[in-house]
Amino acid sequence: MENAIGVFDSGVGGLTVVRALMERLPFENIIYFGDTARVPYGIKSTETIAHYAREITEFLLHRQVKILIVACNTMAAVAHQVISDLSPVPVLDVISAGAEDAVAQTRVKYVGVIGTPATINSNAYARAIHQHDSEIRVFSQACPLFVPLVEEGWLDHEVTRLTAVEYLKTVLCHGIDTLVLGCTHYPLLKPLLQSVVGGNIFLVDSAGAMAEAAASMLHRMRLKRNDERPPEYTYYVTDVPLRFQSIGERFLGRTLSNVRVVKW
Ligand code: DGL
Repeated sequence: MENAIGVFDSGVGGLTVVRALMERLPFENIIYFGDTARVPYGIKSTETIAHYAREITEFLLHRQVKILIVACNTMAAVAHQVISDLSPVPVLDVISAGAEDAVAQTRVKYVGVIGTPATINSNAYARAIHQHDSEIRVFSQACPLFVPLVEEGWLDHEVTRLTAVEYLKTVLCHGIDTLVLGCTHYPLLKPLLQSVVGGNIFLVDSAGAMAEAAASMLHRMRLKRNDERPPEYTYYVTDVPLRFQSIGERFLGRTLSNVRVVKW
């Protein structure tokens, strides 16, 4: 198999990034790694998340990936340096991609960011946004209940709507015009969140932004696959939990096959 794009996440959430990559780069081989045995990462300590990120990076590099995509905001927030230091191939992550998109979208320079507690506590989005434009005010809110609600499939459920209204109150009161969905689970809530925030707020979907960034990186570095045969997709997971297939397919938007279980 010609060198693949390596994508990793704490579990199934990163499949929203894989889905966007498949649409944007339909000829690329993809190797996905989801740490389904140890998810969620969003509530764990920085040291633990960095340790897990190192193990996954080594696993994918061993499979000769040509670029690494950190499709997990939590790992990108607290372990980006650890991953980059280990990797001889380019590393892209959802936070840089989402931050860049937010900077391009905001007119009033008031941006909201939602994510897991680890992502929000790290302040990584504000730092990434300020690297581009230090005048932008960033208002963040951790939304820990969104991950289980999405995994439950409650994408358009009254409970999810009420939860969103409650969480978003604190960012909406600042008059933001852009809201970054800083967790790979959240793109599945996009229609519901858009209806809660109204039509005047632009939602930055880190999965779409990531696929764009990957496409331009492959183009710039002449790393695009030159083969029009169908690509190969392989999914490594550390466990096959209850309802894995149906949850995974919801994230991926297509059949999930070629799943291999890794025992460390
Ligand atoms: N995939 C993680 C993220 O994007 C969310 C799930 C977790 O807490 O591990 O932040």
